[in-house]
Amino acid sequence: MSKRKFSGDHTTDKGESFDRKIFPVAHSSRYHGSSPVYKQPIEINSYSIDSDRRVWFDNRELKYYYRATGTDLSAGYDKFIQRDESQLEHLDTLLDALTDARSKHTDPKLTTSQFVTWRGIMTKLLCTPYSRNEPWELRVSRHKDTIFIEEQATADKKEKERQASVRQQLMCYWGYKFETLSTVSKPPKDGVDDQELADRILDGADTNVQYCVAVKTTLGKNSLIMGAEVDCSEGAKCEKNPLSRYVELKTSRLVQNPNQERNFERYKLLKFWAQSFLVGVPKVTVGFRDDDGQIVKVEDFATLNIPRLVRGKSGSWDPSVCLNFANQVLDWIADNVVANDPTLTYSIKWNQPWRELTMEYTGHDHVFLTKRFLDGETSHDLGGPRAGA
Ligand code: A3P
Ligand code: MG
Repeated sequence: MSKRKFSGDHTTDKGESFDRKIFPVAHSSRYHGSSPVYKQPIEINSYSIDSDRRVWFDNRELKYYYRATGTDLSAGYDKFIQRDESQLEHLDTLLDALTDARSKHTDPKLTTSQFVTWRGIMTKLLCTPYSRNEPWELRVSRHKDTIFIEEQATADKKEKERQASVRQQLMCYWGYKFETLSTVSKPPKDGVDDQELADRILDGADTNVQYCVAVKTTLGKNSLIMGAEVDCSEGAKCEKNPLSRYVELKTSRLVQNPNQERNFERYKLLKFWAQSFLVGVPKVTVGFRDDDGQIVKVEDFATLNIPRLVRGKSGSWDPSVCLNFANQVLDWIADNVVANDPTLTYSIKWNQPWRELTMEYTGHDHVFLTKRFLDGETSHDLGGPRAGA
């Protein structure tokens, strides 16, 4: 336990007091400058989650890219199966994947880091200097000097999901349907099954099914292990460097006027870049659709080339701003989340009036690390007791 002295009116479990901490968020221009080093991510494990949401430490759910043959993204909507998001899954599968990775790798450096989190959380951090009014809330615990970060759904997000219109739900389906339309279950060089190609045009999508990776990298002085869903591989999985063949699939409104172009470059390309860059996915394949959900064209973007497409344009974004900001936030978290105890949590919030991040000590509330992770065990099933149970 740190000897750091706190002054304030919140007393931690260990008898120390914990002031609410603040990270002021400056104008994006304040984060310009040379980028902190971002090391090439390395895949340390991969795993699959099947339609029953059971977890397997293998590649059974990995899909292979095969250019979309149909164009109708609404086809099969009646067969859309959506994961039950009311079942909170915390970091469970990532922690299991990490335990499994530790049993497979002899070099412990590959499977230990200062931070463990989802890629989606890091994407939010990277984009915050430019997405100033999108709230997020994180839950953090420190155990054996590794800081674990999960997302806590904000009240705002829950309300938005509850109110999602029929149209919004259909549009959400379009994203998944593009994945169904653009992938096959075996590497195409082994021959593509005509029946599978015909079926995928009419098939729905099942968001329970996922193929995920755990990668290790370093941002500045912060080493990071991230979990991420990967949409597909271009050809067979390359065991030496699997990340080099992965492809992120996206849909986006066809760009037909300057306003749409500005939106695409300013917001969409930023998110596409951040999401794929973070885990070293080299290619983003975008299905451009019209308002009726028909794919009009498919275009590939090399992830590392995306920042060049927006450079110098008015109101555009700069990757160094994103990386500097995220790096400073991680430093701030490491300095302030000091209690090395998996049964204690902190809450970090970004919300109105969009001026600062706040960190509060939340004691034994919302403990999220699993007991089995602390015990070095894994499970095929999600859920189970938390730390300290
Ligand atoms: P698009 O990617 O075409 O937007 P991902 O691209 O991250 O693999 O996610 C696949 C699809 O999930 C998305 O397709 C979108 O349809 C849906 N999705 C992901 N994040 C979402 C969010 N925050 N809100 C609504 N839908 C989301
Ligand atoms: Mg995708």
